[in-house]
Amino acid sequence: MRSVAGSDPREIVRRGYDQVAEPYLEFTGPHIPTRLRWLRRAVPLIRPGSPVVDLGCGAMPATRELVEDHTLMGVDLSIEQLRMARRATGGRAALVLADITDFAVRPGSLGAVVSMWALLHVPRDAQRALFASVARWLEPSGVFLCSLGLTDDPGSVEDFLGSPMFFSHFDGASTTAMVGDAGLVVEEADEVEEPDGTRAPWVLARRPA
Ligand SMILES: C[S@@+](CC[C@H](N)C(=O)[O-])C[C@H]1O[C@@H](n2cnc3c(N)ncnc32)[C@H](O)[C@@H]1O
Repeated sequence: MRSVAGSDPREIVRRGYDQVAEPYLEFTGPHIPTRLRWLRRAVPLIRPGSPVVDLGCGAMPATRELVEDHTLMGVDLSIEQLRMARRATGGRAALVLADITDFAVRPGSLGAVVSMWALLHVPRDAQRALFASVARWLEPSGVFLCSLGLTDDPGSVEDFLGSPMFFSHFDGASTTAMVGDAGLVVEEADEVEEPDGTRAPWVLARRPA
């Protein structure tokens, strides 16, 4: 692990996910059941037909399901990931090449925001403002589903599938508390272990009606 001083985190992430696009999708395989389990808990709470945004959508290995009943938009800074998302959704999702922290939609306009295994790449000092934005974008009773970083990591670069990758997060409990501070009601929060032993906090929250 080495410090990120002097490097642009978003450039490290963009280059990394462009480079590992196919291997990452393969790596994701055994982790898809957890994604689907949480997604299927969230789906009954999302207003049918409402717009849903997937932040850091990657190849949409799970959220592609949402395209059947929702207007789905994926946001990612990696063009290779968006190419895979286009394939996965048969071109039916709107795909936006953007940094999550630069993205915005009209307040109250979304039925749900989903973000799986992406926020742990966003510099943690930007995360509180991001949760506040999510709360603003959601319609009343709108749903926020996300997985989070597990430990306290101010910012580091590690090897990920052969490419340097940037990570940054507070521990799960602190980040879950930040979701609540943003005005969202946390309905479920749990730390989930994947088949390869990696663990991640998952949070399902809603904007109050
Ligand atoms: C670990 S992958 C997860 C992809 C997908 N959500 C899934 O469930 O497999 C993280 C994704 O988030 C994207 N990402 C990370 N930081 C981002 C940022 N600041 N803005 C936009 N996308 C970002 C990466 O390019 C990558 O596609």
